[in-house]
Amino acid sequence: LRLLLGTRRRRPTEPPLENGNIPYLGCALRFGSNPLEFLRSCQRQHGCIFTCRIAGQYIHFLCDPFSYDTVIHHRRHLDWNKFHLSTSAKVFGHESMDPSHGHTTEDLQQTFQKTLQGKALPSLIQTMMENLQSAMLLSGTSKTRVMDWQQDGILAFCYKVMFEASYLTLFGTELSTHKKEGPFKQEVQKATVLSALENFKEFDKIFPALVAGLPIHIFKTGRSARENLAKNFLYQNLSRRNNISDLISLRMHLNDTLSNFDDLSKAKTHLALLWASQANTLPVAFWSLFYLIRSPEAIKAATEEVTKMLESSGQTTSLHRPHPTLSREQLDSMLVLDSIIKEAMRLSSASLNIRIAKEAFQLDLESKRSYHIRKDDMIAFYPQMLHFDPEIYEEPLTYKYDRFLDEKGQEKKTFYKDGRKLHNYFMPFGSGVTKCPGRFFAMYEIKLFLTLLLYHFELELVDGDIKTPPLDQSRVGLGILQPTHDVDFRYKYKTP
Ligand code: HEM
Repeated sequence: LRLLLGTRRRRPTEPPLENGNIPYLGCALRFGSNPLEFLRSCQRQHGCIFTCRIAGQYIHFLCDPFSYDTVIHHRRHLDWNKFHLSTSAKVFGHESMDPSHGHTTEDLQQTFQKTLQGKALPSLIQTMMENLQSAMLLSGTSKTRVMDWQQDGILAFCYKVMFEASYLTLFGTELSTHKKEGPFKQEVQKATVLSALENFKEFDKIFPALVAGLPIHIFKTGRSARENLAKNFLYQNLSRRNNISDLISLRMHLNDTLSNFDDLSKAKTHLALLWASQANTLPVAFWSLFYLIRSPEAIKAATEEVTKMLESSGQTTSLHRPHPTLSREQLDSMLVLDSIIKEAMRLSSASLNIRIAKEAFQLDLESKRSYHIRKDDMIAFYPQMLHFDPEIYEEPLTYKYDRFLDEKGQEKKTFYKDGRKLHNYFMPFGSGVTKCPGRFFAMYEIKLFLTLLLYHFELELVDGDIKTPPLDQSRVGLGILQPTHDVDFRYKYKTP
């Protein structure tokens, strides 16, 4: 029977095993319908590590945060690259970027570090600030319109403004073509980016299904959205753009010099970066803004911080006179905004951290217990278990804008479990070598977005008593969850 069901038997020293009772799927449905509840109930039954069969794959879930570092730093037997790279090829449709497959020798991690971190950040921040101002404040008609109350969905607003600004920051602006100049050119560019946004949303809808292994040809609209987006990134189209970020120009160069990809595959590697740079940032912008507008204390504290920062750096401006940018150091010192964004991420993040066993080995946990892990098994942790743990975060389902601030208003970094200080308590960006390389830029982008909004606009919810929209569980495991529905708000330019 076991052979027929394709299940395995637990061997001595292996973690407790949940085969589930559905052929092939195993525990997939129970996990998929409510991962947090499912993992908590397994933890109550089995303790801090257990194995679940999910869609034919054996996954060891580790629930003891004190042992996370053992896995995070265990590079000898655990591989992260293969899983990420094969998922990327499957979803975006490019040839394999795994150097062991022989299509490229690019070291992607190095590319990301060089172009998204450290010295690369000041110019990314500056370009993002300029693009945000043009998307939010300076676009043609909005100059006159925002003097009156405007109504929009928070999600719709965040998608429009953040997508445009971030798209232009990474992929540059269109070179002026003969007759299109000035405001007209800007409107044409905006229309092109908004059409990319519509394609992005269509493609993003089918993203979880593609990760799960469904073939793209069964999704007609999603597939043509992916191909339309990729077309924008073909060499002949990218080379007609100005101010392309170092990330994309270095990747174009490395695609040309280190890979044997065809043109479409090259374009699709850029599409992967478009997705990585937007898919989490957009819902984080939504949750940060939603909770902010709904909490009078949060909006007061944040507005004070923003006004002080802009005015102390002599940046009193109007709609018609744009701000110079805030420096990295200034943005780092905006700790109220930092806490507001982190708290929004804590409540909405549902990523899975995954490693694959390159060979059979013994996993030694912090508790001194040791478990045998078979080759090709996965080891995973699910940070939502930490983020919603009442021992670590008091009243974990409540939004507290200052949760990441200490009594002195400095960044709070001490969180405890079982009376012991935790090293890993906040993990929406993943962990170890696979930690999001865009995390610094992501925080700066959202801080700039909130800074401009709070400085220039009065903001209010259309329905002040509205409940928090539920998290859309269809994207569990993939990052920040979206709300199941949008929430309407009003905004109006502040008269000085
Ligand atoms: C990967 C989160 C914004 C670029 C990831 C991963 C997570 C994540 C969870 C996977 C890590 C893992 O598997 O362990 C987020 C969140 C963001 C954000 C929550 C926004 C708040 C960005 C931005 C960029 C970016 C703005 C680029 C401009 C990337 C890239 C990867 C990645 C390139 C793949 C890294 C690799 O495979 O080596 N991100 N991200 N992310 N992120 Fe982000």
